[in-house]
Amino acid sequence: MIGVFDSGFGGLTILRELRRVLPENDFLYLGDNARSPYGSRSFETIHRYTWQSVSYLLEQGCPLVIIACNTASARALRTIQQQDLIKSSYSGRVLGIIRPTAEEIGFYSKTGHIGIFATPGTVYSESYLIEIQHFFPKLKVTQQSCPLWAYLVENGELNSEGARYFIKRDVDSLLEKDPDIDTVLLGCTHYPLIADQIREFLPKKVQLISQGPIVAEKTLDYLKRHPEVDSKLEKSGKTNFLTTDTVEFFKKGAFLFGETAISVKSLTFL
Ligand code: DGL
Repeated sequence: MIGVFDSGFGGLTILRELRRVLPENDFLYLGDNARSPYGSRSFETIHRYTWQSVSYLLEQGCPLVIIACNTASARALRTIQQQDLIKSSYSGRVLGIIRPTAEEIGFYSKTGHIGIFATPGTVYSESYLIEIQHFFPKLKVTQQSCPLWAYLVENGELNSEGARYFIKRDVDSLLEKDPDIDTVLLGCTHYPLIADQIREFLPKKVQLISQGPIVAEKTLDYLKRHPEVDSKLEKSGKTNFLTTDTVEFFKKGAFLFGETAISVKSLTFL
């Protein structure tokens, strides 16, 4: 199985695209819903929570785990790759979603000015700025921290007056910082769920990019380049779901992300 981890429901937007390009593969999704969102938590906490989930997926035998969460990729991936995995006995690989996105995002902009909406954790880590700089050194990148958006999505508050207020506030703030932006990346896997609401406050000339399709294509490419990983993956087209909250809670939330009639198990981390 390919393990897919997110703090909550957001990674389902990545999983959907992964299943589109890899329909024969088996997936095991883990949402740490009981402790989500991670966005405003400390580096140490995000790392500890992420490693608990990632090591659980590795223990289940996943040869590849994708951290389908920007906050966890920004705050925990490097430590996991450079320390935790080395100290552990797991042979699986762990990938994040910031680098594959950074490799592509510059191709979308004509003005050379892009914006990124993300959680405070992702913004303060500056991971996007650092990674994009490698691939598109001339691109002007402006970040906007959106502290409440993941809460709105996790709680199904997509269309309320309150949601509109916070979405407009953060969209306006990004455009004030750089009016030449023509491309905005949804740098949090929860945000595609409120893409329509965000678009309402963006000028027509600004395109909104979700990461799912980019990450999926990059994963496909990775598996072609790494047959030693691909050959270990089971291919019966099945997806199972794990949540740290209750099965009922997960099913209800996953429904918002288009996942119906799914097999879910609940697990608890101490
Ligand atoms: N879905 C996660 C991301 O992409 C984060 C939401 C959160 O846990 O704050 O950043």
